Amino acid sequence: MSIDDSNAGACACACSEPPSEAEQFSRLDEVIAEYRNKAGGLIPALQIAQSLFGYLPDTVVNRIAEGFGKTVSEVAGVISFYSFFTRNPRGKYLIRVCLGTACYVRGGKEVLDALKKKLSIDVGETTEDRLFSLEVGRCFGACGMAPVVMVNDETYQRVKPARINELLMQVTADDNESEQGDAQ
Ligand code: FES
Repeated sequence: MSIDDSNAGACACACSEPPSEAEQFSRLDEVIAEYRNKAGGLIPALQIAQSLFGYLPDTVVNRIAEGFGKTVSEVAGVISFYSFFTRNPRGKYLIRVCLGTACYVRGGKEVLDALKKKLSIDVGETTEDRLFSLEVGRCFGACGMAPVVMVNDETYQRVKPARINELLMQVTADDNESEQGDAQ
């Protein structure tokens, strides 16, 4: 499963207005009320919270801990256990480089190094302009097309370190195209 945070925090309806912070917290309170008495309810509550806010800032973690009657460190422990949760804001484009065996032996590590150098960020970080975040994955189920990179929900196959610039240009161009298509 991949989690697309590219529209995190955006309104779920067709309007372009992002919800206010008060609206986000009001929705969070509803989510807490819905899940706090359910067995295993903490994880779906965290997932929804992350989709609402784009990440899990301290204010949200504190509110969830209080709502679930847990300590902040208990909730933080759950967050750190699952790689799809993040305590840091992510960029518009979440780039995940596969470092599963097939991708690793076919140059996934070199692709990752090229992205780190090009974007001047390390794994788990976001560029200053909040455009790109960089993460790694273990297998995206496309081993025959290794090395594989995922950007949000899009898969890029047989990626070459020397063509990282092209990849980034294609990512932003594909996105601009789909935005224009949506506007028509
Ligand atoms: S190892 Fe990379 S897609 Fe399977």
